[in-house]
Amino acid sequence: MKINIREEYIHTQPPLNIAESPALPSELFKEWYSTAYDHDPKTANIMTIATLSKKNSPPPLPSSMHSANHDGLTSNDSKIAAPEFSPAIRIVLLREYNEDCYIFYTHYTSAKGEQLTSHPTIALNFYWHSLHRQIRIYGITKRVSYEKSEKYFKSRPFLSQVATTLSNQSTPLTDYEAFQKSITTLAADYKGREHELKCPTTWGGISISAYYYEFWQGRPSRVHERLVYEKTTSTNPNRTATQNKSEVTSATWQKKLLYP
Ligand SMILES: Cc1cc2nc3c(=O)[nH]c(=O)nc-3n(C[C@H](O)[C@H](O)[C@H](O)COP(=O)(O)O)c2cc1C
Repeated sequence: MKINIREEYIHTQPPLNIAESPALPSELFKEWYSTAYDHDPKTANIMTIATLSKKNSPPPLPSSMHSANHDGLTSNDSKIAAPEFSPAIRIVLLREYNEDCYIFYTHYTSAKGEQLTSHPTIALNFYWHSLHRQIRIYGITKRVSYEKSEKYFKSRPFLSQVATTLSNQSTPLTDYEAFQKSITTLAADYKGREHELKCPTTWGGISISAYYYEFWQGRPSRVHERLVYEKTTSTNPNRTATQNKSEVTSATWQKKLLYP
């Protein structure tokens, strides 16, 4: 089926260029995020995250793979070897950000959790349609402390806490009704002592330390604007014996434009 939708991206936002953009990408993120929030507070924090899935881990690759031919249809003539890693994407909600750190919450034992344990690189994507804006971020992940996860866990509605406790995210579920019942039963067990429900140690925050940003803004006739910030670190050669490495390593951000 062909899709015949063609939208002109009307010039509604200020131009995106090297001279007028902030020195720090986190400042521009903050500006764009708050504009998106003002437009639609319910969807502003939706982000797509991509991780690397190792060969043979879920989702399983079909035993023989075919690459697409020029019509976009698969062809038996162009078999390709199964790659070492394949991309895995899904939507999560951004729960906190500060400078170049972005946090979401999930099950550490889920597919994404395991993928990040073995390969902690991640790519994020925010797309705000009404603003014709996209932000892509690349970063390195690590788990937040149990105390921080617990604090956030306790701030969620109680039934969400119970569902999180009983969910074995990304593993096969044979009986949805039985799962629902187990939530009702556990919630009833904790009636009057809800605060005693513990945050599972297998669930919590993932923080992303960003090292690359791309800000994209739609423009008429597909002459879109793309501004990249790349992080570079340099070590001060005048480091003294008493200073540790982090005291003398400074990060700077280099800006560049990309063709659309
Ligand atoms: C709008 C929306 C918000 C979501 N937020 C989260 C979230 O914050 N954390 C999470 O673990 N899953 C979230 N999910 C579910 C994920 O997209 C995904 O189905 C789940 O995390 C399992 O992914 P995995 O099997 O790749 O680990 C959300 C889904 C949608 C559509």
